[in-house]
Amino acid sequence: MKIVNGFDLMDYAVKHNYLLPSFNTTNLEMTYAIAKGLNAVNLPGYIQISSNNLRLSSPEAIVALTKDALKDSDVPISLHLDHGKSYEDVKRCVDAGFTSVMIDASHLPYEENIAATKKAVDYCHFYGVPVEAELGALKGKEEDIVNEADCKTDPKLVADFIERTGCDLLAVSIGNVHGLDMEPKIDIPLLKELSAVCKVPLVMHGGSGVPFEIIRETKNYGMLKINYGSDLRKAFITTFGKAYVQNNNAASVIELSLESVENVSQTAQSITKIINQQ
Ligand code: G3H
Ligand code: ZN
Repeated sequence: MKIVNGFDLMDYAVKHNYLLPSFNTTNLEMTYAIAKGLNAVNLPGYIQISSNNLRLSSPEAIVALTKDALKDSDVPISLHLDHGKSYEDVKRCVDAGFTSVMIDASHLPYEENIAATKKAVDYCHFYGVPVEAELGALKGKEEDIVNEADCKTDPKLVADFIERTGCDLLAVSIGNVHGLDMEPKIDIPLLKELSAVCKVPLVMHGGSGVPFEIIRETKNYGMLKINYGSDLRKAFITTFGKAYVQNNNAASVIELSLESVENVSQTAQSITKIINQQ
């Protein structure tokens, strides 16, 4: 299957009442592993990569890898730019073939967040690509990026933000955190308030470490996309770490790379299945 358009993926998930996992990749092994994991459980989702991770390769390389990883795919999978940090990053990824993007201008003052988001939306909608935006800020560590700001999404701003930006998905801050160093405290009453005033589907960042029963409960209140990064990165890193501890002359990259694909795929499979348990 080709890389599926983000709007089509969202429609498919809503039609079948699925939660869409969005798994962060960094490299070749994780990209193939995510595709393998979603196909193993026959459930849809996203392969995503953050702006910050694109410096290892390029949007064009990630598109080529994803196309190859999905050539035998039987389930719809989109390729998403996660935490797009600039209009230029968004534009380059859309031009390369990404089928869904996030412009993350949540660190800017409200009016500047709106302006940056709308500029990205205008470009992406010209090419039929949906845009995720963020309102509020998450604490935590997104790999080497640490954010101390912690302001939950304000329900009073949501309708205005959606109306003026035209974004298609909204990432919210409801006590979720990036990374595994802090404990998430998901504010379901706030999520219910946000869902009542938001006409687009919601996104939860910081999926790693959030109890699965809470993840499943969020589906009742407009949540559609759940981001997972740390859980998969841990599966990848642990593969090599364990090998080195067992034998510090370990030198078979191919063996460990294949093992890392299997371990990351198993993690993706398990998460996808559990969050979609009916
Ligand atoms: O954007 C990526 C996700 O928010 C990753 O969060 O590493 O806590 O799963 P996580
Ligand atoms: Zn995130």
